[in-house]
Amino acid sequence: MNSVWSQSKCLAQYNVQVYSRPDKAQVVALLTANQLPTADVSELDFEHFLGCGTRDHPSGVVGLELFTPDALLRSLVVDEHARGSGCGKVLVDAIEQYAQRLRLRNLYLLTETAERFFSQLDYRRIERESVPESIQQCREFSELCPDSAVVMVKRLNSSG
Ligand SMILES: CC(C)(COP(=O)(O)OP(=O)(O)OC[C@H]1O[C@@H](n2cnc3c(N)ncnc32)[C@H](O)[C@@H]1OP(=O)(O)O)[C@@H](O)C(=O)NCCC(=O)NCCS
Repeated sequence: MNSVWSQSKCLAQYNVQVYSRPDKAQVVALLTANQLPTADVSELDFEHFLGCGTRDHPSGVVGLELFTPDALLRSLVVDEHARGSGCGKVLVDAIEQYAQRLRLRNLYLLTETAERFFSQLDYRRIERESVPESIQQCREFSELCPDSAVVMVKRLNSSG
């Protein structure tokens, strides 16, 4: 599918093109270059991933791991040469729109480096124990991210 994601009005200024199902090898390359975990990426459903920039050389990617009615927002990364141009914000906005279309309720995430970035986007820090058991048991949560990673959540306005 080559659909270009619609952006919230306030994000249209950035002119970042978002598409679904980025190439798996490109996602792994981008994560590896930015020291983010890749060990479980081959197990993931890329239907729930978005990319921005070009398909050959994505500027950024983000994905969801579904634990309906919640999800783990994961693998958000923007190429260091493309940072500060709105890619990160646009990708998070697009994955939230996607999650709302799936009627998901809460997006959880782990981060070691971007707590302030996510706070600006209305994610709030919570204790690990507050995360649903199913998410706590996934590999990113239980094995791949260090205990020092901050856990955050955002409640979506999904209807239904
Ligand atoms: C976090 C990240 C995705 C942001 O991408 P980006 O394209 O640079 O973000 P944007 O251009 O949309 O920036 C949006 C705002 O967040 C700020 N920001 C960006 N990265 C930030 C960070 N790591 N910490 C705090 N603020 C940050 C920007 O200054 C900008 O602020 P402004 O709107 O007031 O100007 C990118 O820095 C990155 O890939 N980091 C490494 C991987 C990572 O930490 N991923 C998150 C793990 S889940």
